[in-house]
Amino acid sequence: MNTKIFCDIAELDQIKKFNKKKIVKGFTTNPSLMRKAGAKDYKNYSKKILNICKDKPISLEVFADDYKNMISQGKKINTWGKNVYVKVPVVNSKNIFTGKVIKELNNDNIKLNITAVYSAKQTKKILDVINKKTKVIISIFAGRAGDAGKDPIPEFIKSMKLSKKFKNVEILWASVREPYNYLQAKQIGCQIITVPPSIIEKIEKFGKSSKKLTLETVNGFLKDSRKSKFKIDDK
Ligand code: G3P
Repeated sequence: MNTKIFCDIAELDQIKKFNKKKIVKGFTTNPSLMRKAGAKDYKNYSKKILNICKDKPISLEVFADDYKNMISQGKKINTWGKNVYVKVPVVNSKNIFTGKVIKELNNDNIKLNITAVYSAKQTKKILDVINKKTKVIISIFAGRAGDAGKDPIPEFIKSMKLSKKFKNVEILWASVREPYNYLQAKQIGCQIITVPPSIIEKIEKFGKSSKKLTLETVNGFLKDSRKSKFKIDDK
């Protein structure tokens, strides 16, 4: 499976750097990444991002918490660039399914990225309200599920099975914790994985031999024991 790598970042310099990489096929952001990057004015900041990333798909999230404003933010964000995917959380903060928002924006031909998904049951609800032509990404949060002691893989496999007939739907592995997640995503046939920059750099260096890994490990331990002048001396 040719799993596409997206970069999960909102920092302008990093977007500039990673946009040049062939391995990076798109970008995802979220309000927390935007805040961390120092964004103050959401629209202005997003436009700066879109000035750098003009062609590759990029997800920009709505931050309203009610249907009406989610829909109006989604419609506005969509006008900022032809490569924009409007990111919509699967529920609002009251745990109410955002189906109405998804349905209306999808009906309006707006590309969507449905985020904060943790189960195939949620995938099914999303598929029930969308058409079979406008592009929709469904982002399943693997790392955060793992952090909570849940295996995300069965949810991915079921979600992919459910969405098989939707040629417009791609399942995205979100919340990456380690480079190996890329191989896991490939193995299960996930269409996209969104990866933080530091982990993309590690993926680019895949392929070290076991011998090299052993030598690097042994040398690291030796270097540190010498730096600390460790001694085992009875006297
Ligand atoms: O952007 C969505 C997701 O990838 C965030 O990941 O590391 O905050 O769980 P993380």
